Amino acid sequence: MSTLAATKSEAGSFLRSRLGSFLAVMPLGVWTLMHLWNNLSAFQGAEAWEASVTHHPHPLAQLVTSVVVLLPLALHTVWGISRLKSARPNIGSYGFLSNAKYLLQRLSALGLLGFLVAHLVKAWAQPRFIEGHAEGFDHIAAYMRHHTPTTIVYLLGTLAVSYHLANGLATFAMGWGIVSSRAALKKTDVLSYVLFVIFLGMSWGAVYGLWMQGAAFPAPVE
Ligand code: HEM
Repeated sequence: MSTLAATKSEAGSFLRSRLGSFLAVMPLGVWTLMHLWNNLSAFQGAEAWEASVTHHPHPLAQLVTSVVVLLPLALHTVWGISRLKSARPNIGSYGFLSNAKYLLQRLSALGLLGFLVAHLVKAWAQPRFIEGHAEGFDHIAAYMRHHTPTTIVYLLGTLAVSYHLANGLATFAMGWGIVSSRAALKKTDVLSYVLFVIFLGMSWGAVYGLWMQGAAFPAPVE
């Protein structure tokens, strides 16, 4: 390979790696947080939940949301899978905790992938494109309450989302050089633990809200 071609391919791979990292935060991470927040409206009942989670003022808004969320998700997933393939924990150079976090980031990515596929099929694609309507509050709340596998999958899936995003924000800040001094790195670590607890509280809060409201609906017929 000529020097110019080698430089071009290195620049391409650098840009791809930056893009995969950037998209994970903006818009994916930001949208994920908004989505968790909106789901907390389950506590206020069906109308509030449907208004904030499934209602789009215009069909075009629905299309834009899908593109703004699903495209970055697909690109980040492709990027993530290529990083998974080259994953090398390094106990020799880094401490136990750093290696454990490195491994957990990757394990949570795999859990997240399984959860997102199931969640997108069951709560988005199937109701909208096969049944011809958005996911109904009565449907998701009844499943959350009466169908234990659904409750467990949501609890574990959102646990993976919370860890992956909180720890990912810390690695993002380090990777982009936003933090570099030893003291700043320590503070970033602590912040990521706090964020993990907040994200998990929001996630499990939303699951609890749906579970609680599900008592008003009959058990779904399989
Ligand atoms: C809601 C969906 C997701 C969000 C919000 C998200 C967010 C993030 C964030 C913020 C980072 C840190 C980026 C950086 O260090 O620069 C990250 C890293 C990572 N993500 Fe995701 N992610 C999601 C889904 C996925 C999926 C489905 C996969 C693939 C199976 C995946 C695989 C990875 C991997 C392997 C890393 C670590 C990369 C590295 O440090 O080398 N992510 N993610």
